[in-house]
Amino acid sequence: MGIVNMENIVKRYGSHLALDYVDLKITEGEILGLLGPNGAGKTTLIHALAGTIKIDSGDIRVFNKEQKANLLDIKREIGLVTQEISVFTDLTAQENLEFFGGIYGLKGKELKKRVEETLEFVGLIDHASKLPDKFSGGMKRRLNIACALVHEPKFLIMDEPTVGIDPQSRNHILDAIRELNRRGTTILYTTHYMEEIQNLASRVVIMDQGHIITQGTIQELVEKIHHEEKIKLQVAEPDDELLEKLRKLDGVKQVSKTGKEIQIISQAGAGTLDRALTVAKEFGGIHSVTADKPTLEDVFLTLTGKQLRDGGNEK
Ligand SMILES: Nc1ncnc2c1ncn2[C@@H]1O[C@H](COP(=O)(O)OP(=O)(O)O)[C@@H](O)[C@H]1O
Ligand SMILES: [Mg+2]
Repeated sequence: MGIVNMENIVKRYGSHLALDYVDLKITEGEILGLLGPNGAGKTTLIHALAGTIKIDSGDIRVFNKEQKANLLDIKREIGLVTQEISVFTDLTAQENLEFFGGIYGLKGKELKKRVEETLEFVGLIDHASKLPDKFSGGMKRRLNIACALVHEPKFLIMDEPTVGIDPQSRNHILDAIRELNRRGTTILYTTHYMEEIQNLASRVVIMDQGHIITQGTIQELVEKIHHEEKIKLQVAEPDDELLEKLRKLDGVKQVSKTGKEIQIISQAGAGTLDRALTVAKEFGGIHSVTADKPTLEDVFLTLTGKQLRDGGNEK
């Protein structure tokens, strides 16, 4: 069943077109990864879906109901984890959850039970009576997530829930998402880290500049560019002249540089590796060479000519 059906969504901020006729479908039971660099329009799309901003035009159906006419009903079944942490700093972790549970109509024993279960689920049960000020970044993020889960939504929307946290908290959150999904929750997960999506999402939608540029399972997306190969060279002197020469080789599509590593995307079977090595040797030593299968990042690079990581500053 379709949980979400968005068609022709347009959202402008002044003259800036943040959503440019976007279509998005989400199926019950999936973890959909929404991937794109900063400024792509992910947060705007999520808020349009959750009904927290007004769109200029387009049709939105959630749980098979027209969104505007059924907004309150719909919101009851949705959990929204916002990109900015939005918990009360003068309430303890437990009081925060009691507050959010109360908004959704939970009370008495049921509220108490759900607050405990949720604190346990996000690993904060031992910190229930502490103020969030005392929490690490990762604990704050987990509390932020808990506030969106206390009413057991059947559809959870998460906007970059792991930005700026330690690896342990990140793994805890990613495991929790898998567990929720196993229990039947449909999840929309937004990020600009493609590594996360690759291990989490059953389907991926890639956005850039207000457009959906491609979508499919990870396998499907990678197959779209399977006729390409990726070569990485660690060199002593990755200067611009070398990059220019590599770009001119037959079959080469993209050349980019990170520190002393040069990445080349090229047509498979074009003999690029041999020729790239010959050129690189003219410019001094080669420290290492690897040739890989393409990843999701390469899909993005091929489709947009940009690296996902270069999408802007961390917010
Ligand atoms: N409230 C706003 N007013 C004006 N411009 C905005 C506002 N919110 C977002 N934008 C702009 O819309 C574009 C998409 O932003 P956003 O949806 O936050 O992208 P993402 O979540 O992918 O980083 C960006 O260019 C951003 O600067
Ligand atoms: Mg955002």
